Amino acid sequence: MIVLITGCRSGFGLHAAVEVARRGHTVYAGLRDLSTADALRTATEGLDVRPVQLDVTKPEERDSVVAEILAEHGRIDGLVNNAGIAIGGFVEEIEEDELRRVMEVNFFAIWALTSACLPAMRAQESGAIVNISSRSGVYALPVLGAYAASKWALEAMSESLRHEVRPFGIRVTLIEPGPYKTDIFDRPYAMGRNVGGPNSPYAQFMDKLNETVNQSKASAHDPRDVARKIADLLEAPAPALRHPMGPGVVPSLLARRFLPFGLLERLIAKKTGLTRG
Ligand SMILES: NC(=O)c1ccc[n+]([C@@H]2O[C@H](COP(=O)([O-])OP(=O)(O)OC[C@H]3O[C@@H](n4cnc5c(N)ncnc54)[C@H](OP(=O)(O)O)[C@@H]3O)[C@@H](O)[C@H]2O)c1
Repeated sequence: MIVLITGCRSGFGLHAAVEVARRGHTVYAGLRDLSTADALRTATEGLDVRPVQLDVTKPEERDSVVAEILAEHGRIDGLVNNAGIAIGGFVEEIEEDELRRVMEVNFFAIWALTSACLPAMRAQESGAIVNISSRSGVYALPVLGAYAASKWALEAMSESLRHEVRPFGIRVTLIEPGPYKTDIFDRPYAMGRNVGGPNSPYAQFMDKLNETVNQSKASAHDPRDVARKIADLLEAPAPALRHPMGPGVVPSLLARRFLPFGLLERLIAKKTGLTRG
């Protein structure tokens, strides 16, 4: 298979490039900045992994990667929309540019890159599109409003797309991970620039919230599990749409689905400390 994976500098993308190539496939590994390819090159030595410059928000880079793959192979069998960012913060305190950035990377760029790959997949009457969503794509916890909004949008679009491209032999799937040990929540922009400062109306909640975040980080699993799931879904002939995975994810999704929202709300308030007085 010829597979394009986005966001391969670290985390799921890096491990997926290794796993997919180990299974004998050719991987075009997108990097936001090609000069950061060292870890990828080391991890994939001897494998058919080709690092490519691909900031998913840049139209010319998306077009150029798709054109390069088609010029070299005449087909694209798999697309893994993995590149993503998280900017945490109370909905009121997230800045407009931060919200737009999250939506740009986690939603609009995926729409654009997928649309660029679909003509080739339709022509060859086969293809696998694996979109990396999140538990936050179905479960909107406090302080993750911007991120959850982007993943909910991705979930909705993926579900529609799945119906639309099925007649062309193209399979669309979503992975919904809980916390995994990657770089995502340790980045300098992991919290919005004006969130929870001393004058914030939400400052009183920050200690307890940080504690909850640290507990979640401590329970995080090995990202190679997600990499294996990505490879499995690329190869699966008839995969289901949604694939939740990770610590506590299935129980929390069942709770989201079956518990009355009022009860869930009280449980979340207790856990996060977002209560009155
Ligand atoms: N880790 C988790 O707990 C978790 C849970 C649920 C869902 N996810 C999702 O998993 C996906 C991968 O994240 P990760 O956890 O592996 O985090 P990560 O280690 O931070 O990796 C994110 C990757 O995306 C890349 N990226 C960011 N902006 C990009 C852009 N504009 N163009 C191209 N690449 C870009 C990053 O490149 P640079 O380093 O060069 O910026 C990096 O390679 C994301 O969609 C995330 O939402 C993660």
